[in-house]
Amino acid sequence: MTRDRAANQLNEFKEEETKQQQCSGGLTTASGCPLADKLNSLTIGERGPLMLGDVQFLDEMAHFDRERIPERVVHAKGGGAFGVFEVTHDITRYCKASIFSKVGKKTPCVVRFSTVGGESGSADTARDPRGFAMKFYTDEGNWDLVGNNTPIFFIRDPSLFASFIHTQKRNPVTHLKDPDMFWDFISLRPETTHHVSFIFSDRGIPDGFRHMNGYGSHTFKLVNSENKPIYCKFHFKTDQGIKNLSVDRAGELASSDPDYSIRDLYNSITAGKFPSWSVYIQVMTYEQAETHKDNPFDLTKVWPHKDFPLIPVGKMTLNRNPSNYFQDIEQLAFAPSHMVPGVEASPDKMLQGRLFAYPDTHRHRLGANYLQIPVNCPYKTKVSNYQRDGPMSTDSNQGGAPNYYPNSFSGPKDCPRFKDLPDTFTGQVARYNTADHDNFTQCGEFYRKVLNAEERARLAENIGGHVAAAQEFIRKRTVGNFAKADPALGQAIQDAIDKKLGAAASSRL
Ligand code: NDP
Ligand code: HEM
Repeated sequence: MTRDRAANQLNEFKEEETKQQQCSGGLTTASGCPLADKLNSLTIGERGPLMLGDVQFLDEMAHFDRERIPERVVHAKGGGAFGVFEVTHDITRYCKASIFSKVGKKTPCVVRFSTVGGESGSADTARDPRGFAMKFYTDEGNWDLVGNNTPIFFIRDPSLFASFIHTQKRNPVTHLKDPDMFWDFISLRPETTHHVSFIFSDRGIPDGFRHMNGYGSHTFKLVNSENKPIYCKFHFKTDQGIKNLSVDRAGELASSDPDYSIRDLYNSITAGKFPSWSVYIQVMTYEQAETHKDNPFDLTKVWPHKDFPLIPVGKMTLNRNPSNYFQDIEQLAFAPSHMVPGVEASPDKMLQGRLFAYPDTHRHRLGANYLQIPVNCPYKTKVSNYQRDGPMSTDSNQGGAPNYYPNSFSGPKDCPRFKDLPDTFTGQVARYNTADHDNFTQCGEFYRKVLNAEERARLAENIGGHVAAAQEFIRKRTVGNFAKADPALGQAIQDAIDKKLGAAASSRL
């Protein structure tokens, strides 16, 4: 049997080591002292108990006991790679961000792809959105675009996020995935209908990470060098072409190769087949936003291409695998709040909620100094601020620079030319109910105009086959919502449920 590059990694290490002799100094303790005997513990007599003085055993055991950091609360399973973003088209009329400053400019980046609901050992081929998180190491600081492979999301108010995720995870008693929890929430919140249709369409199971698009999803604000703002959405279209897995193939792979997508990405990059994405933006002026028929900041909706055409920007290519998974990928910390001058947050409530959540979870998952970890560190620029100390401070801790501001001793000063654009908001402070902000029109268009007949049939089959496991009142409410998007979709889902339950009943006879 031929072994792929991923399977051959240890052999490759051995060959390289023979050439380079990096480990030639021999085995050491964590504090760097040579170790004479790694295989045998220190005991009193051959059969005797262990000595507390066996510090090399104690040190290794104590470190092992602490090897796991908390997995991500969502998007726990994933893989990633390093690469480069290159500007191919001038968008400086919209955005002053240094990453876009001239055609041909290259900026290093790292991308992590993931599934959402499963634990870190779960199968790559689950039906689920795919995370598409990007970090660009720009010369004005790190810019993170923490997107998905879908241009929209299930909900439009961040207050619902924790509950929504609970329903995608495990029942607190049985510790099983629970179709009642899943479909109860989905059907009680019909704004999920559009995104659920994407996830249960063929694109809900992409063939690995290379054959799917990425989207910034939210509306962002771009600002140009004259401080003129414009709203924007980011699109990353795969140059490999869209490819999805059939339900049957995905099921097979879940048992035969649950790490299918990670393996595919690794092998493709080692083979020199560097995956790339063509990058586009859509833009909407403030005036257009005032009169747009939908709320342009509603994350459950797209901006139609015919009204807001894609504008080419550049190409992102992944060309280097991590040299160590934990160091380079598990410790990655992406945050929508990591923005650079020229890219700002829009009023999108979901984006606003995310600005808080990510650095908060990073401080829990990785510690207060998570931005000092090499893969998170803005190495194209120099950090100069008044944050100091904390656990695991591993850089210079800003040496002798004053640790208070203002000061008279040449500590870093404000950079007024980078000040945020003033924005105007009016309105009463209240908890606005957005539950009924047209949950169905775009979903209906997707069903009728974007999908062909076979794709429509598979969509209904996939939803019906899944919701059939929920209780009858939940099934009814679910069908009712999809019927509001398109009566034919509602009917087709009902038929698929009947078929599934009929088959289950006759198999019980
Ligand atoms: P367009 O005909 O211009 O675009 C349709 C879009 O649908 C394309 O971007 C296409 O992606 C994408 N698409 C095709 N199949 C699927 C699928 N199974 N799941 C998700 N997306 C898919 O239409 P409009 O811009 O007028 O939008 C019509 C509907 O298309 C929307 O209501 C929305 O549901 C859906 N859509 C729109 C997007 C947008 O940004 N406007 C993006 C994605 C979906 P590709 O070009 O890569 O094949
Ligand atoms: C990961 C919260 C919506 C994409 C995470 C994590 C949290 C979180 C806490 C774990 C981060 C980590 O441990 O490093 C939220 C909240 C949301 C929200 C509160 C809404 C209010 C979204 C949306 C998208 C998205 C809309 C995409 C458009 C991602 C991705 C990751 C992630 C890609 C994984 C990042 C990585 O690879 O490290 N989210 N999320 N999330 N989220 Fe969200």
